[in-house]
Order: sequence, then structure tokens, then C-alpha cells
Amino acid sequence: KMKIGILSAGGDCPGINATIRGIGKTAIVEYGMEVVGIANGFTGLLEKDVIPLNEQLLSGILTLGGTILGTSRMKPFKQQEGDIVSDKPQLIKQNYKELGLDALVCIGGNGTQETANLLYKEGLNIVGIPKTIDNDVWGTDVTFGFDTALTIATEAIDRLHTTANSHKRVMVIEVMGHHAGWIALHSGIAGGGDVILLPELDYDMDVVANCLIERNQKKKPYSIVVVAEGIKSGKKKNAGAYISKKIRKMTGLETRETVLGYIQRGGSPTPADRILATRYGTYAAQMIHQENYGVMVAARGNDIVSVPLDEVGGRLRLVEPDSGLVQKARYMGVCFGGK
Ligand code: F6P
Repeated sequence: KMKIGILSAGGDCPGINATIRGIGKTAIVEYGMEVVGIANGFTGLLEKDVIPLNEQLLSGILTLGGTILGTSRMKPFKQQEGDIVSDKPQLIKQNYKELGLDALVCIGGNGTQETANLLYKEGLNIVGIPKTIDNDVWGTDVTFGFDTALTIATEAIDRLHTTANSHKRVMVIEVMGHHAGWIALHSGIAGGGDVILLPELDYDMDVVANCLIERNQKKKPYSIVVVAEGIKSGKKKNAGAYISKKIRKMTGLETRETVLGYIQRGGSPTPADRILATRYGTYAAQMIHQENYGVMVAARGNDIVSVPLDEVGGRLRLVEPDSGLVQKARYMGVCFGGK
């Protein structure tokens, strides 16, 4: 009987449990495999901390946010503060053997897929599943978690419209996305943002200030500014506060800022994310059954495919920041701070 392990690593996101369920149920029911969860990302592999999974434990988790297995940002191929183990990859290899694992599914973002590839090269049978709210994993059209974060961010922007209108204010909202602008661009368009600032597009504060003043002159009483946390702001953190202050100084308009934060990562996944996560999970189990290792499952158009982990390198920012969507948003009057 084949024995497989599942771990989730990196920041959590809605849909991880749905994908664990997808892998587990397919592996147990369809292929008669034994399935164990590894606790807290790669840390669980160092500590041999495993959770045996069965059909009962996999029931009722489809709609649950977070990850029942726990997660961590522990990177086995990097020396990190407080490390007591000198050769972490070696210990992981040894524990993988001692646990009797035949394959390991690694659910995570870019960092996790990189680690997954290195472990594959060390001889482990690995299948990767991309997950992140940031939607920035190379090799797949979309990651689960993104649609949920987008839904939450859009709802937040909707709510800012009403209070912005009552007080005639400029409302600045900072959304997540790390170095990528997917959440900002999509929620900005869906929520009817007036200004959207993205890490992928250079912006000029004079242009931003002019857009807002012009709106004011056109008797549009309020404005919504959507800021990606990863924009170049001279500071690493607080992009929203930075932009809000600049606008206040340059326009004299009253501003307020909101940092949406971890709410974007919490709670139940949307139907689209539940479906995508389930498709990824079942497909990963199929890959193991076919002994197709060293791959990450991915969405391409309407299909789920596998891509070599070796090709999954680096971060995916908006594919073409100046592409169709940005242009269409410009037609709607959105200001990106460009000339
Ligand atoms: O990758 C998901 C994400 O929420 C990013 O949008 C954000 O920049 C980062 O994680 C926050 O990291 P942490 O969970 O370590 O605070």
C-alpha cells in the first residue's frame, strides 16, 4: 500500500483544507493509499510530527479556512535564526524514509515550490500544489485563495464608498499581494476604485493628486484610492498611510486610510476557490498514482495540467501590467498615476 504525506507551508489562505480533502479522498477512496498530514509545513518533517488522515477527518473541512495541518515559513534549505539542526535537508530525507513515505504533496506559494523542487532533486517523490492569495505563482493561471481575497477586498471597497460619500473624503485602502498587484488591480476594478496603484506600474504623485483634484472640480464629492502593499513608497511598510499623507498634503483634500490586512486571508473560501482547490487536490493524487513526480499542478485555461517544478521559478507579477485589463480600467476613468 502506497503511503503519501501532505504538508502546507508559507502563509495560509482559504482553500487549503479543500485541497487537502481533494488529495486525501482521491488517494484513499480511489487509489487505496494511506495518507498522513505533516504538521506545520516543513517543520513537521524535521520533527516527524504527523497526523494520520482518514475519510472521517477529511469530512466537513471543505468550507473551513486556514489549514487543519498548520503551516510555517520554515525553509529547510536556508539557515534560519534559532536553527538547532545543522543539515535540515538531510534530516528531512531521513525522516521521509523512516516515516515510510512514498510521495509528498507540498501545498504552498513560490518559496514552497522552490523547496519542493530542491527536495525532488534530493530524491523525494514530490508533487506541488500552488496556493496564495497573491496569485503570483509562476506556471499557473491562478492560485486558490485569490478569488476569496478579491471578494473580501471588493466588499471592503464597496463599504468605503458609502462612508466616503457621506463625508466627502478620499478613502485610501491598502490591500495585500506582496510584490504583486493582482488583488489591487482586480478589487480596484471590481470595487470601482478611482485611483489604483500597483507595484508593476510606476506612478507619479503629481498625476495622482491631479486626478483627485479634477474629480473634485467635476463635482465628484469623494474618491477611492486602492494601493497595493508592494508599491514603491520609499518605505517597506505602510504604503497606504504614505499615499494618504501625500494626497492630503498635495491636494488639501480630507483623507483617511484603511489597511485591510489579514482579513483577506481568513475565513471560508469562495465557491470558485473551493472548486479550484478540489481540482488541484484530486489532480495531485492522480499525479502520484501515475508516479509523475517533480511537477506542480496548475490551471491553464479551462484545464488542470502539470508543469515541471524546475520551470516554476521566481515570482509572477501581473503578466503584462499594461495589458488589456489596465487599458480597460483606464477607459473607465481609473488613474494609475502614469502619464
Ligand atoms: O503571501 C500572502 C501574504 O498575505 C502577502 O500578501 C503578505 O505580504 C504576506 O503574506 C504577509 O506575510 P506574513 O504572514 O508572514 O505576515
